[in-house]
Formats: sequence, C-alpha cells, structure tokens
Amino acid sequence: MFSAMKYERGCLSLIDQRLLPQEEIWIDCRDIETVAKCIEDMVTRGAPAIGCSAAFGLAIDALTAEKKFKTWSEYKKAFHLSVERLCRTRPTAVNLFYALDKMTALAETFKPELAMSDVAKDVSKLAQHLFDDDLATCKAIGENGARLAEGKRLRVLTHCNTGSLATAGYGTALGVIRSLAQRGQIEIVYADETRPYLQGSRLTAFELKSEGIEHKVIADSAAAYLMQQGKVDWVVVGADRIALNGDTANKIGTYSLAVNCNHHKVEFYIAAPLSTIDFAIETGAQIPVEERSPEEIRVTGSRQMTPVGAPVYNPSFDVTPSHLITGIITERGVLRPPYRESIMALKKSL
Ligand code: MRU
Repeated sequence: MFSAMKYERGCLSLIDQRLLPQEEIWIDCRDIETVAKCIEDMVTRGAPAIGCSAAFGLAIDALTAEKKFKTWSEYKKAFHLSVERLCRTRPTAVNLFYALDKMTALAETFKPELAMSDVAKDVSKLAQHLFDDDLATCKAIGENGARLAEGKRLRVLTHCNTGSLATAGYGTALGVIRSLAQRGQIEIVYADETRPYLQGSRLTAFELKSEGIEHKVIADSAAAYLMQQGKVDWVVVGADRIALNGDTANKIGTYSLAVNCNHHKVEFYIAAPLSTIDFAIETGAQIPVEERSPEEIRVTGSRQMTPVGAPVYNPSFDVTPSHLITGIITERGVLRPPYRESIMALKKSL
C-alpha cells in the first residue's frame, strides 16, 4: 500500500501528487510555510491527508521553535500565527480544521512556563496520533462498507482519489473498494478521470493498478451512459465536509453522479470518517466551496486546452443534497436517513 507522507522528527516528506503517476518525487518540508504551500498547490491533497499534513506541519514548527524560544508563553503567538497560516490553505475540507482545532485545544492546556521541549513533544505526539487514528479509521470504514455488500460481487464506480494518497493510508471510498476486493467481491471498478485535475485517471488508476484490482478509467461524462446500460451496482465516493443534515461536499462532479444514481436507481454511498462531519453547520448551503485557478481548466500538463486566457469558472467541489445519498459509511457504522437524527445519535455516543 502506497503512502503519501512520511514523518521523521522535524521533516515531513510528501510525495508530489501533481507528478504522479509518471514521476515519484518527494518534497521534504522542514518549515510551516513549505507545508502550507504543499497543501495550497496540491502536492498533498484529499481531506484526511490535508489534516494530517497540517498537524505534522505544526509538529515541525514546534520543534524548530525550540531554537528560538524557551517556554510556551514565548512561542504561543508564533504557534497561533502558524495555525492561521494553515487555516488559509484550503477552505472546503473540514478535516484540516478538525486537526487544527485538536492542536489548538491541546495548546490551551499548556502552562505559560512549559518548556519548549515539552511543547514540541506533546504537539508531535498529537500529530502522530491523528495520523495513526486516520489509518485505523480508514480500515474500519473499509470493513463496514464491505460488510454492506455481504455475498455480492459488485461493479463499482468512484470519483476523484480517496485512497492511500488522500488519507494517512488505505483510503475511504477506495478503502471500501480495497476491502471488497480482498473479499473477492469486486467485479470491476470504474474510475472517473475527474476533470480538471485528473485525480481519478492519474491517482486512483495508479492505486488500483498497484493493488491489482480490475478497473477501467472512464471520462466523467460516461458515467450516466454506464448506469443507463445497467453496468453500475454502486457508486461510492469520499467527502470533504458533511453538514448535520447529511448534505455532502465532495469533488466537483459528485453531485451529477448522485443525480444520475437517483434516476437510474443505483445505490449512492459516501465513505468518510466522522472527522469529516462538521457539527457546526446545519446544511450544505453553509459549506465554503473552493474556487481554484482558471489555469487548471485551461492547461492540462503542458498542453493548452482552451484559447489562451479563456474565461473560466472552476469550483473545486459541489454539494450533494442528503436526499440523494443512500448511506454514509463511517468507522462507527453506516448512517442512514434521516441523517440529522443518525448523526446526532452518533455524536451523543462519542
Ligand atoms: O481537491 P482534492 O483532490 O483535495 O479533493 C479530494 C476529494 O474531493 C476527495 O474525494 C475527498 O477529499 C475525500 S478523500 C478521502
């Protein structure tokens, strides 16, 4: 199983996902600004991976701060500036804010006179814990998803990349597919290429190939045709932010899939950790949708795909209304509509 990040005291190595699958180049991050740029520029991407990278970024920050400051009270201001910098990297994936909130809550427990070496130790410990927890969570999501399809062989369609590269490892929607494949329950996976950034054709196909899982890459616009032909049993995708009522933000193109599933009576599942639920928002209307550079549409690789400077609109995510979602596969089981009730019940048990 491929891993997108490696952390060793003071250095976060990220595989440059912009260059995959052609080149495997690792970028070493030794300061907060390099980590922030790697998140902004999509060297690292995928909601849980963004959260883990940010947490390791703060671990690096605290370790390097040992050279400048003696105690927490001296470092506190710089720490909060680093948190703010990371907050500004990508707005939609709530896992980033989940990780930063955990870090901030930890920081609130620090006494002013706490030695910097202890600050760095505690921050690093929490970053590693968030990473390990995400890995275990993804495996549980995979198991819960596979259990849903007990005894069936499925033709599954997925969108974007939700695998080892997008998480601490294993994946969310791709984790479900991995678990199904391990049980011999995958007939074929259709991987949407996922315009404009091609996370599906570059990254999901790369992961499926290295796992030996039967698959075909399709143009995003082919999905409806496949459903019309009765070739898709399940669609399973990840999530960047889930509102209390179950509305779900995910990679642009997810909403069209959900509408098509509804029309063709295909089951449509979201696979996501509980850290992707934003308990502070009621509906998807409150989810900030990131708009990315027009160049992502204008240029693919080194090839100009539009007239130079063509006007472009490039929302990176869309929001799928909860009534189109068959179920949300989490590490604690599968949530079913009405989502507000099932999410609140789960929250109480946390
Ligand atoms: O813009 P990206 O590549 O970070 O978007 C990724 C997605 O939309 C994924 O589907 C989502 O983060 C879930 S990843 C487990």
